[in-house]
Amino acid sequence: MDISSTSGPLTTIEADWLIVGYGATDSSGELDSPLSDLDEALGGAVSRLVAAGDLTGKLSESHLLADVPGLAAGRLLLVGLGAPGKLTSRKLEKALVSATRRASKSAEVSAAIALPQLNSETISDTEAVSLAAVALQVGCVGQGLYRAKPGRHAFSAATVVSDVEGSAEAVARGSVLGQAMNLTRELVNRGAMEVYPETFADRATAAATECGLECEVLDENRLRDERMGSLMAVAQGSVRPPRVVVLKHNGGGEGAPALAIVGKGVTFDSGGLSLKSNEGMKSMKCDMAGAATMLGAMTAIAKLGLPVNVIGLAGLVENMPDGNSFKLGDVLTARNGKTIEVLNTDAEGRLVLADVLAYAVDLGAERLIDLATLTGACVVALGEEVTGTFSNCDDWSQAVGSAAKQAGELAWPMPMDDLFGDLIKSDVADIKNVGPRWGGAITAAKFLENFVDSTPWVHLDIAGPSFASNNKPHREGGGTGCMVRTLVAAAEGLA
Ligand code: BES
Ligand code: MN
Ligand code: ZN
Repeated sequence: MDISSTSGPLTTIEADWLIVGYGATDSSGELDSPLSDLDEALGGAVSRLVAAGDLTGKLSESHLLADVPGLAAGRLLLVGLGAPGKLTSRKLEKALVSATRRASKSAEVSAAIALPQLNSETISDTEAVSLAAVALQVGCVGQGLYRAKPGRHAFSAATVVSDVEGSAEAVARGSVLGQAMNLTRELVNRGAMEVYPETFADRATAAATECGLECEVLDENRLRDERMGSLMAVAQGSVRPPRVVVLKHNGGGEGAPALAIVGKGVTFDSGGLSLKSNEGMKSMKCDMAGAATMLGAMTAIAKLGLPVNVIGLAGLVENMPDGNSFKLGDVLTARNGKTIEVLNTDAEGRLVLADVLAYAVDLGAERLIDLATLTGACVVALGEEVTGTFSNCDDWSQAVGSAAKQAGELAWPMPMDDLFGDLIKSDVADIKNVGPRWGGAITAAKFLENFVDSTPWVHLDIAGPSFASNNKPHREGGGTGCMVRTLVAAAEGLA
């Protein structure tokens, strides 16, 4: 779906839904533009609503007016944005996605979004325009992929109305970001009967061709040659052979990749012989969200033509119990030569990432970010909406933290003291793949640290925010596309 940008009086905008954001009206009852212009054209209809106390501008308050005389649009959906100046990108996103989700319930509907001047300290007007485009893309796509009657429909036409300078570029950028998030969401939302290592690799290859990324797929023979014994052990119990996808964006000319993005792509995590319960397993089609987030971000980085070299890697396996499964007590040798004692086959994500991180280091990456639905412990620590960040380098950790802030996504740094590393020492091998119960998100990160050498590295545990268990007015359940925008902002920071 393309999104266009336009300016001009709101009364002339032709769309089935015209979504207009407005700030809280002050005690004087004076309206800010664009509401004041609309009010004039509509013979005072808006100020009468204000006078009646129906329109206060409270955040996410909404008011639908249909068939308004004097208005070219079929419906006017007024969306409150709260106190002017206090708006944040997260609040704006909530309000706008609520509106676009509401408008996209029927097919063949067109939508336009207009925003007031924000005067916010935390979000610029061009960022807001960009966010409107994101909302148009993301809000009209749902998780009802397999329903006879889908719950949401792409808009037949989508427009952002703005006279802010640079709004055409901002709309284009938001549109690219929204589409990248939707690619991530779709891959997460599809079942494991469809998305397994080979089909994920095919999809990545197709996406790469479409946006001009170099793409290489390593099959099981190549993975053996590359000594990825840790990753291959996890795949052993599945009829689906493993794959590693390597994507390259060469925007920075000659030279080493400034950044490698590594994603955990466990296309289904049954737990293996350390089998999960039904409750624990039912959402485990989402365990490739790290890889899907990497892929979404790489397509956006390519489409935006960022002047920096970035590589993206996905470690793709299915974790299943079988006569051929890897077992407790097995000792694996990872690509970098370290040996790992397996004491829980459900701590498989770190085994996959170990080899792919080491491979990224060998490809010469100057900085690393990995993303993984790695631990339930991280969800216990930070809840369902905050990404845990873990790092071996304060500067790089802060850079990724500010990228998240800029992208309007929530991330929080966790401690990485050596005492946590001591908890995964093994009596028979260099390390074991699981520590004691407490601090489980951190011992998992300390495990990964063994495979990044001295490269500045940030691990993002997205077990909570990458997958939502229910629908909310402001976001669909299922894959969320979280951290796609943070990755793009982090890459931009290196450009
Ligand atoms: N994929 C899971 C983590 C997960 C849990 C993701 C909930 C999303 C939602 C991971 O492979 C796993 O099973 N982790 C174990 C680690 C434990 C065995 C040390 C966990 O969190 O219980
Ligand atoms: Mn697991
Ligand atoms: Zn897992």
